[in-house]
Amino acid sequence: MKFNKNLIISLSTAATLSLGLSACMENVMPDSNTNTPKVASIDGGVSYPVKDGMTGPYHVNPQVAKDAKHIFNGRVPTKKEYDAWNTDIMPDGTGLPEGQGTADEGSDIYDAKCTMCHGDFGSGGGGYPALAKGNAYDLHKTLTNQRIKPDTDGPVRVFGTYWPQVSTLYWYIKDAMPHPDTGTLTDDQVYALVAFILEQNEIKINGVEVDDDYVLNRKRFLEIKMPNRDGFEPNIDGPHGRDNVRKYFSNPANFGAQKYNLKDVKSRCMHNCQETTAKVVYIKNGGIHDFHPPMSDVRNLPAKKASTGGFDAKKAYTESCAMCHGADGMGAPVVGDKAAWAVYTAKGMNKVYHNGINGINGMPPKGGSDLSDANFKSVVDYMINNSK
Ligand code: HEC
Ligand code: HEC
Repeated sequence: MKFNKNLIISLSTAATLSLGLSACMENVMPDSNTNTPKVASIDGGVSYPVKDGMTGPYHVNPQVAKDAKHIFNGRVPTKKEYDAWNTDIMPDGTGLPEGQGTADEGSDIYDAKCTMCHGDFGSGGGGYPALAKGNAYDLHKTLTNQRIKPDTDGPVRVFGTYWPQVSTLYWYIKDAMPHPDTGTLTDDQVYALVAFILEQNEIKINGVEVDDDYVLNRKRFLEIKMPNRDGFEPNIDGPHGRDNVRKYFSNPANFGAQKYNLKDVKSRCMHNCQETTAKVVYIKNGGIHDFHPPMSDVRNLPAKKASTGGFDAKKAYTESCAMCHGADGMGAPVVGDKAAWAVYTAKGMNKVYHNGINGINGMPPKGGSDLSDANFKSVVDYMINNSK
């Protein structure tokens, strides 16, 4: 019986993800005077202004909060209170009470209890969500627009354009509105408010547009088909909802980003965006199997490079000697210049090694390096014996 709750969560999660991004890009610049971000709190797809460390909805109307009668104020609710609150209203009509109301009646209730937050005719503003923006069928088409310019050609996401099921609207108002004085509306009042909000969204029921005198009741309510009814996947409604979700997400082609060439920004990927080589991995029988690319279960550390006695004379020469012995003109015999070295080696190699190790004339001891005597000697051999 919790599907509708899941629905709300997934709607707002998706909205939060994409809104989070746009909020980062546009609005989270700290105000240089107060150091308070102008818009920082993102909740349920709505950006709220922050003032004095509080988000708009909780700040702007302190009087409403003060007058609230139906908050349990920290005490445990009685069973009756709990049951009255714990309602599920499902797309198939489960939990939806009998009752009725006209859009006209809804308009009066709306003016008294909702306008201060949701604006005239549900237009929103002041950080509160808009409930309508105009003809929901037309605006539904904007959902495929990119969010780059939310004010102009971005997707319009309000109840009428975005929500797949109208039952959520009834449920939301009955359970959660008017914020924070919740649970104060009768069933008829909720029908009237729903009719009013449908009217603002220019929704048709069985081909009939909801107008001032339209009487909305349970039967007619259940005939409403929202424009975005099929806009979500997988289909989470009905008794097979959970299975649909499991099946959907067991196919990696259904999520993530695909064959999408990052350099080719013109072709943005909106679905099936992941490499189809991804595999679902199960941890069973004590290990991870079927992983692509395969995972190694070898636990050895990589083999140490075999010690070849492996001193690299050429490398040591390059690091410690080449600056003086690499070219003519430094007063030092040049590497591979047999004639130049012959002058030195004439004294015998032991003398050459000894002078090099201890330093002589412009030759610093060991050339200033910290090589061992043995390694120093092999660098000397390298310098004498290699031709250029
Ligand atoms: C004190 C301010 C306040 C009042 C009064 C109020 N609301 Fe709300 N309403 C909110 C806030 C804040 C949200 C968004 C909550 C969230 O997203 O977490 C909201 C959300 C909603 C939503 C969901 C909109 C969406 O797209 O997510 C509906 C529908 C709604 N309110 C209807 C009503 C109705 C009908 C009334 C009058 C009976 C009413 N509200 C009175 C503050 C208010
Ligand atoms: C700062 C410059 C400098 C560096 C660095 C340097 N040398 Fe020399 N080296 C000299 C000069 C100048 C001579 C010639 C000295 C002379 O003619 O008496 C010399 C001479 C030598 C000699 C001959 C010594 C003799 O008198 O028989 C050896 C052997 C030698 N260098 C090895 C090395 C090695 C090996 C390195 C690097 C590890 C190195 N040098 C780094 C400047 C340098």
